[in-house]
Amino acid sequence: MRRQGKILVTGTTGTAFRATMRAARIHEYGGPDVIRYEEVPVPVPDPGQVLVRVAATSFNPSDAALRAGHLQDVLPVDLPYTLGFDVSGTITQAGVETSSFTVGDRVIGRLDHGGAAAEYVAASADVLAAAPKAIGLANAAVVPVAALTAYQAVHEHAHLTAGQRVLINGAGGGVGMFAVQLAKRTGATVIATASPRSVTAVRARGADQIIDYTSTSIAGALDDTVDTVINLAPITPTAAAGLVPLVRPGGVIISIATPVQPPAGAPITAVHFLARNDPRQLTEIVKLIDAGELTVEVSRSHRLADLALVHGEHQAGQAKGKVTIIP
Ligand SMILES: NC(=O)c1ccc[n+]([C@@H]2O[C@H](COP(=O)([O-])OP(=O)(O)OC[C@H]3O[C@@H](n4cnc5c(N)ncnc54)[C@H](OP(=O)(O)O)[C@@H]3O)[C@@H](O)[C@H]2O)c1
Repeated sequence: MRRQGKILVTGTTGTAFRATMRAARIHEYGGPDVIRYEEVPVPVPDPGQVLVRVAATSFNPSDAALRAGHLQDVLPVDLPYTLGFDVSGTITQAGVETSSFTVGDRVIGRLDHGGAAAEYVAASADVLAAAPKAIGLANAAVVPVAALTAYQAVHEHAHLTAGQRVLINGAGGGVGMFAVQLAKRTGATVIATASPRSVTAVRARGADQIIDYTSTSIAGALDDTVDTVINLAPITPTAAAGLVPLVRPGGVIISIATPVQPPAGAPITAVHFLARNDPRQLTEIVKLIDAGELTVEVSRSHRLADLALVHGEHQAGQAKGKVTIIP
């Protein structure tokens, strides 16, 4: 629960204070085997930060990209580095100058600098939101990165409205889980692509039409152009170019993965964006979850000690749905 007023609590709750904890860290960039499960000091919250006892983090493709060293230009980090952008957990300690939360509050958040693949993480209170009550705290760890990205795609970039037609390419993944539901809520007609393993889930999310991208040409399956394409799939540049003719003149293509570059002069707006943390939007998302208007699916849970296995599955193309990682 959010509390008003300034909280100056510096102690801990009933949890005995621990000097060390287990964390999944990398000391160098590389394949999944660079992830080490090791004993490290429990972080001490700075002013404005809280210490969160982690219920779970979740796997995102960006965790793998960072581990592999592909994000060094956009997100330089100091090594050794503790993985984990998504967090759900309980505040056990609040440093000075934290006004929004207090010890015992259950929170979720997207941590721009990671650190949630651990038993505890120190996080700025400003980046957190109260956790949903309608789902388990650990399951709530799949929400921040994926749902914020979907929310920003649907509402800030696509500006979807009732009566529009949207094609969501890559609807079977973690971001797709939220994008299909949020797009459907606007009153738009949602056409989604999914492979056979994800068709049932994408249908349950509310898609009006599903195209199996593994066996069917998307262009051939559409009976008309769409107002908007939202691409959530890491496709080839050629496949990305193939999405352009699907959009009506004056329409929009948004991508969070492979950028789409319409030919010069094409009357189409193309947007490629990096999602950002936004606790106000996260609070809106939590309200939808608690109202039963947004469903959260967790495909599997793994122990933190097995994080390298989860990265390995992703690298082998065997990952499916959202996975929670439990310390
Ligand atoms: N820009 C940003 O801020 C941002 C934020 C979050 C994620 N991302 C990126 O966005 C992408 C999706 O993220 P995610 O968390 O949803 O990943 P995810 O859970 O791994 O889902 C990706 C989905 O893409 C689908 N897919 C794969 N190849 C496809 C193809 N050729 N055509 C259509 N669909 C295809 C798969 O669906 P099926 O199960 O149906 O096969 C898969 O489930 C990743 O590349 C991620 O790095 C970017």
